[in-house]
Amino acid sequence: MLLTNLNAATMRDHYGLIEDAAILIEDGRIAWVGPRAEAPSGMHGINCQGRLVTPGLIDCHTHLVYGGNRAHEFEMRLGGIAYADIAKSGGGIASTVRATRTQSEGELVASALKRLDALLAEGITTVEIKSGYGLDERTELKMLRVVRELDKLRPVDVAATYLGAHAIPPEFHNDREGYVKLICEQVIPAVVKFRLADAVDAFCEKIAFTVEETARVFEAARAHGLRIKLHAEQLSNLGGAKMAASFNALSVDHIEYLDDSGVEAIAKSGTVAVLLPGAFYYLREKQAPPVAALRHHGVPMAIATDLNPGSSPIHSILTTMNMACVLFGLRPDEALRGVTVNGARALGLNDRGMIVPGMKADLAIWDAERPGDLCYPIGYNPLTAVIKNGKTVRGTLS
Ligand code: NIG
Ligand code: FE
Repeated sequence: MLLTNLNAATMRDHYGLIEDAAILIEDGRIAWVGPRAEAPSGMHGINCQGRLVTPGLIDCHTHLVYGGNRAHEFEMRLGGIAYADIAKSGGGIASTVRATRTQSEGELVASALKRLDALLAEGITTVEIKSGYGLDERTELKMLRVVRELDKLRPVDVAATYLGAHAIPPEFHNDREGYVKLICEQVIPAVVKFRLADAVDAFCEKIAFTVEETARVFEAARAHGLRIKLHAEQLSNLGGAKMAASFNALSVDHIEYLDDSGVEAIAKSGTVAVLLPGAFYYLREKQAPPVAALRHHGVPMAIATDLNPGSSPIHSILTTMNMACVLFGLRPDEALRGVTVNGARALGLNDRGMIVPGMKADLAIWDAERPGDLCYPIGYNPLTAVIKNGKTVRGTLS
């Protein structure tokens, strides 16, 4: 397949923009990209009418499999009750856990598909989904099977992450130690045995797990060959990111309260900073992540929806990119890198996120003149087609 008459945001460097470009796809991979005038001749090309082509977008942090509904907590927070206080009184993550435990795999697949489809409608071709609303072994494995099922049901690659250390489940309220042991000695081995996850994540926070408890979970993850990610420094600075860096974590996520020494630590370990402006927006946080320091130290920044029923019920990667620009001060090229090349990196995937020879032919085609157009409006979706592994899976290319 040869695509012609397009502007290609290759993301090699900044946007890596090639105007009036062509892209050759062979066997599901990018075979060639460059100026149209230099394109291989003698092939019938598909005229993209001057549209913008970017890598398929990557949402590297979501919790989109869950049961129940937390709209009433949104109302409570607007009435002045804090997210952490709702969590302490049995709401928050615990309330989604109760609902998720009672649902069948089929029910969870059905509700998750609606959310996933909302993401796909904006050009997502790779998405990460976490467990963490079951906490007990049965429900965590159930959630991860649902995540694996979603991968089969839609033209999207789904990365699965085990987030057992999301909250202390009610049955372990007086035995935190026992729950950490369960994660390390029982659930991680089961997850690995059934190949249900690619990575392990944890929530390191005063209302969740201490740095020491999180480190024990990571020891077990490392021993079982799973990659490591962390919800760190979202509501306070506990030093979780630094500890995660010592495990060469793929990413540390949220990081509003990350300090300079934390930034230096993740710069050294090559860990990606995943910024989640949706949660910042919904929780009406005041402290933005240390973007200037992250830039200064050359830390790759990714952006994700954090789609979840509590702190970030946002189903739009384009809106999230806009928020990263408006709320965190990212440049639009940084926002686009955050959902392409750096999103891939946050998942440990080096075969996607750029339009360069050898990479997967996952492409989004936009009715847009320039890449900055993707971050600029809210509630306007210029996606016209999606190519996944070299095949058109959305829209039509004539
Ligand atoms: O990424 N921080 C912890 N986990 C989710 C929120 C989960 C919830 O409130 O249900 C987050 O913001
Ligand atoms: Fe999250």
